[in-house]
Amino acid sequence: MIRSKLSLLPDGLRESARLVERGRSDRFTSSRRGERFPSLSLSVRRAWLEEYHPDHHADGKRLLQVGSAKGQLVATELADCLESWPRPTLLQRRSWQPDLTTDVLIIGGGGAGTAAAIAAAQAGARVLMATKLRHGDSNTIMAEGGMQVADQECDSPLLHYLDVLGGGHFSNDPALVEALVSDGPMVLRWLEQLGMSFDKFPTGRMQVRHGGGTSRKRLHSAGDVTGLELMRVIQHHANQMPAITVLPFAPAIELLTDEQGRAVGAVLERLPQQQTVVVAAGAVILATGGLGRLHLGGFVTSNHYGATADGLVMAYRAGLPLRDLPFNQYHPTGIAWPEEKAGLLLTEKFRSLGAPLLNRHGDPFVYALEPRDITTAAILRECRDYDNGVTTPSGRVGVWLDTPMIDMLHGQGTLEREFPGRFQEFMHKGIDLRELPVLIYPTLHYQNGGVVIQPDGGTDMPGLFAAGEVTGGVHGQNRLMGNALLEILVFGLRAGASAARFASTTRPAGQPGLFHLEPFLEELKQAQIDPQRVAPLLLPVYGAVRSGN
Ligand code: FUM
Repeated sequence: MIRSKLSLLPDGLRESARLVERGRSDRFTSSRRGERFPSLSLSVRRAWLEEYHPDHHADGKRLLQVGSAKGQLVATELADCLESWPRPTLLQRRSWQPDLTTDVLIIGGGGAGTAAAIAAAQAGARVLMATKLRHGDSNTIMAEGGMQVADQECDSPLLHYLDVLGGGHFSNDPALVEALVSDGPMVLRWLEQLGMSFDKFPTGRMQVRHGGGTSRKRLHSAGDVTGLELMRVIQHHANQMPAITVLPFAPAIELLTDEQGRAVGAVLERLPQQQTVVVAAGAVILATGGLGRLHLGGFVTSNHYGATADGLVMAYRAGLPLRDLPFNQYHPTGIAWPEEKAGLLLTEKFRSLGAPLLNRHGDPFVYALEPRDITTAAILRECRDYDNGVTTPSGRVGVWLDTPMIDMLHGQGTLEREFPGRFQEFMHKGIDLRELPVLIYPTLHYQNGGVVIQPDGGTDMPGLFAAGEVTGGVHGQNRLMGNALLEILVFGLRAGASAARFASTTRPAGQPGLFHLEPFLEELKQAQIDPQRVAPLLLPVYGAVRSGN
């Protein structure tokens, strides 16, 4: 029996998986005794980050030559997008006469954009939501493990606030963190009212878990498909609201401003025809998500197909300040084998339920629920300096996530019930996560930095609001698990309400144009930026992605 399940693994993985299996009952016994791998001291954490985490290295980065972050060291792939020329379709367009008008234009149709649309429509605005792909195609629906909200008796928004600040190495914007944690309980009630199904005990009480770096159990989940379930209910709600129109396959390629420097709309590019559409709006909300599909440093990614940093590009051209650009999240447990799933996530919830991280000898090397950047640094250290990783047939490296521990610790049926998404996905390959551990390696998961915002979602440009992953400041340099799903709703709702208010109370906008773009284009010219370098990319460029290991 044992031989047959291990035989599903390629040669290079099999012997190591056997060692993992051999140590399992001892690990179970020590776990039952309450023993666990010790947490790292603050000084070791700092040293490991500096030595091993990609955010803290100059490799693969370059100095920005133009724009509001000139002189900053950022990943080359991102720098190339920020320092780029507009798309040819924009330059071919001669007139900015609007094809469509609306009160609030929302750019992006993931969780933040959809929440913003609902709030703006509730405040009386006509809303146009332009989405790159279909409504809902986003990192939101890829989110697996849960959403943090302090709703338990032993918890409070204050404790949540302290955890978020500590996880971010105290580099967060405290006012944004306060907004995040204070609105949490309201957002949870709202989702329940909309019909979101959360994991609960038979009594109806919410089941909550620990995420890495949290002092209380406050992670609320829907199996391992929390983002998909969340999107199901808010998308359905938005689709019932007559004031919201969705324009799919219509990503924005540039903001439009008036002579006073106010955001007054955007130019969209219909896919795949590449026709431009000019939208005039009383207010604009950027909710374009992240950058995983830039594959920084050659890392594989857990992100959806459209995550190409478009919002950062448009905001940077408009001269807006961006913060924490060098800080990206490499989720510790991306799949390393099977190869065709490389980069997809195995949620942190596996570790919350007791699956340990083990090296090729089957030995633990880090407490699995350290904050994410620390766990990632530990895996990179183990694979690089100690040669303790396992190599796959294609040359990827990884360590083990020992998923079979979950049913041992919590009883038969737990893994299948708690992780229906990944359980089925692996079963389709004939791999039973209850019997075999999974080889994992960090995967590019989230952009911690982004556009500077105020607690109401406002940016430095009048009429322009932003919410979700495109923004920076909420998480500082490092986000803790489960705070992204909360962030998109808290700041999506706030930005939607603020934009509707702005559109209805501010004097009529002036004629739309590209007034904000002129100084930036002049800088590009002075810096002799290659005219072939064009952004937003809209879709990822493949063919040049390295292995990520
Ligand atoms: O591990 C996870 O389920 C990821 C969650 C998150 O990034 O918040």
